[in-house]
Amino acid sequence: MFQLRPEGRPANVIVVVEGRLVRVPAGASAAAAILAAGLHSIRETSVKGSARAPYCMMGVCHDCLADIDGVANQRSCMIEARAGMQIRCQNRGRRLNPAPQSS
Ligand code: FES
Repeated sequence: MFQLRPEGRPANVIVVVEGRLVRVPAGASAAAAILAAGLHSIRETSVKGSARAPYCMMGVCHDCLADIDGVANQRSCMIEARAGMQIRCQNRGRRLNPAPQSS
C-alpha cells in the first residue's frame, strides 16, 4: 500500500482525485495524489479495458495516464500537483464517430 511518509514535507496541497479531496506534500506529483487517494486504478487500456495505475513514476510506462484539469492523456507522474487540481480516471480510448453509411 502506498503511504506518505510522516516525516516528509508538510502536507499543504489539496487536489481532487475522482471527487475525493487528497492532501499531498508540495512538490508531489499528480500520480502520488492518485496513489494517496487509494485508487486501485486510474485508467483502463483502450483495447481490453485492463485496469492500470501509476507504476514507474518516471514517465516511461504510461500506466498513469489521467484526465487532469480536463486534459486527457496526461502522464500524471510527470505533473506536479497544484492546489485545486482535478484528476479524473480515463477509461478506454476515445470513442470515434462511426463513418457515414454510403449507399
Ligand atoms: S507511472 Fe509510468 S509513465 Fe507515469
